[in-house]
Amino acid sequence: MPFISSAGSGIENPILEQGRLARELERKGSKLIKINIGDPAMYFRLPKNIVWAYKKALEEGHTAYLEEQGLRELREAVSDRYLDRYGISFAGENVVITQGVSEALSFMNQGMIDGGDSAVIFRPFFTEYLTYLKLSGGVPILPALDESNNWDINISELERLLKNNKGRKPKYMLMTNPNNPTGTTLSGKAIREAIEIAKDNDIFIVSDEVYDELLYNGAEFTSVGKFAKGIPHMLLNGASKNYMATGLRVGFAIFPEEDPKSQALKKVFIGMAGARLSANTPSQYAILEGMRNKEKHNEFMHEKLLQIADRSRLAARLINETGFFTAVPPNSAFYLFARIHLNKLSIKDDKEFVELLLKEQQIQLTRGSGFGMEGFIRIVTLPSEAVLTEAVERIRKFCEGHKK
Ligand SMILES: Cc1ncc(COP(=O)(O)O)c(C=O)c1O
Repeated sequence: MPFISSAGSGIENPILEQGRLARELERKGSKLIKINIGDPAMYFRLPKNIVWAYKKALEEGHTAYLEEQGLRELREAVSDRYLDRYGISFAGENVVITQGVSEALSFMNQGMIDGGDSAVIFRPFFTEYLTYLKLSGGVPILPALDESNNWDINISELERLLKNNKGRKPKYMLMTNPNNPTGTTLSGKAIREAIEIAKDNDIFIVSDEVYDELLYNGAEFTSVGKFAKGIPHMLLNGASKNYMATGLRVGFAIFPEEDPKSQALKKVFIGMAGARLSANTPSQYAILEGMRNKEKHNEFMHEKLLQIADRSRLAARLINETGFFTAVPPNSAFYLFARIHLNKLSIKDDKEFVELLLKEQQIQLTRGSGFGMEGFIRIVTLPSEAVLTEAVERIRKFCEGHKK
């Protein structure tokens, strides 16, 4: 009998998989350009009022476990935010604070998936979706988003895969809007159609909206909650990206509907939250300050978003100009997902591409196959324009050196 479970032995994170080699190169003196991790806190400092609120929480002795569901005032701030931004109304009672969206993904799969259950995850997807589904013994149904239509949902592909899944009703359908790794938003039309399909097939809807303030280039965005009124669903959001507070580990699981499924899942979330006792206490006070002080927040985000938009536009233009890639121009988040013209190169796939690129040009980025889409690379567009320019120049040189 193997010591490690089959689920445990299958865990991998393609975003970090080159870490060992990268560290080795750094030890030998290489100056790496790391564009593999989408962590805004590596590039932008937290606003002072959030830092101050964190310190104040410590000084005032807010260091004990909090109510397992999370700080009531923070849950109410989440409810206010969705009402303000989208006109979606739900009580703070219908929010569970988690240690990042990651923990909500873990709760969600543990709470809904028994071995052999299936779930719809659109690809390319955020890597953790598959990790947590598989840990629960779930089987993914993976409709491809439509690259030729700004990575929107391909409704006929969704219908086709659901039909092929005969006899096995998926437990949930998970949409990511805006998307990581594509840096694009879904159209309202596609969301509405996908929701109709989920409703007809009695599939629970989940929407991960963790990047919903990071919009530019005239991006169209609306919360799924706006379209799913009256239909069982859960919204995921948090402080990691919109508040650039990844290390504070604050996520929101929102259950806007009162139907039995939504409420049963909320109950499971509260149970799971109780099983780990409490989310980080001072972090919740800090993010509460960030959410309450809207003026400061908007000012901060406005400034950062201008920089992110410029960086993303620049990276997209430069990578397309190399002639070795095609990338849909992003309009949200901070990623660029570029198709490699492998037919022009003597490289067999995206895995080999990223491995050789790290060794030869000291650039660490993530292979598309790690997100469920082979033949692509994902570039994080958070570094300065100078660093991104240098990175694309090295990538171009690398491709020239491997031309067929
Ligand atoms: C789409 C998406 N969802 C969730 C997460 C995880 O966020 P958190 O830091 O809140 O766990 C990420 C992180 O990159 C993400 O891209």
